[in-house]
Amino acid sequence: MDAVNENEGRKHPGVERAYRNERIVVYWEPKLCIHSANCIRGLPQVFNPAARPWVAIDAATADQIAETIMTCPTGALHFARLDGGPQEGQLETTTIDVRPNGPLYIRGHVRIEGPGGHVIREDTRMALCRCGQSNNKPFCDGTHRQIGFRTNPPSEPAQTP
Ligand code: SF4
Ligand code: FES
Repeated sequence: MDAVNENEGRKHPGVERAYRNERIVVYWEPKLCIHSANCIRGLPQVFNPAARPWVAIDAATADQIAETIMTCPTGALHFARLDGGPQEGQLETTTIDVRPNGPLYIRGHVRIEGPGGHVIREDTRMALCRCGQSNNKPFCDGTHRQIGFRTNPPSEPAQTP
């Protein structure tokens, strides 16, 4: 586990951990992790919260790690390829996935601004709080599970006569 160096810190202000080998570096922002476990299910030999470090960077190929990181819905995980492989791409469309009993998963090029245009975050993956109880608003922090947040089923499409 490497400490984040000064340049990495500037590029990814919320990153607390970077895990690297000569092929890929993985960035993790624990404040954004809501334990959806997509990474753990996708590549358990690499992403194992019971191990230290919890990211075993040499346990899979850079392609496998990159592919799994793209399933992280919150943007807590990012990567940079050091081997000339494809970097994280930009999506042409932005989508919002309304999660049952949970947050809004957004994919696309998203910039969240606060008062005066202050950029709170700019990223391609985010989970925004829908229950109103997150301690990290506007982002989901997993509190919806603790409070038993429930949403109604999505309404049926309007019937045409
Ligand atoms: S996929 Fe992302 S949000 Fe889910 S457990 Fe892994 S790092 Fe956390
Ligand atoms: S929706 Fe997850 S904390 Fe509100």
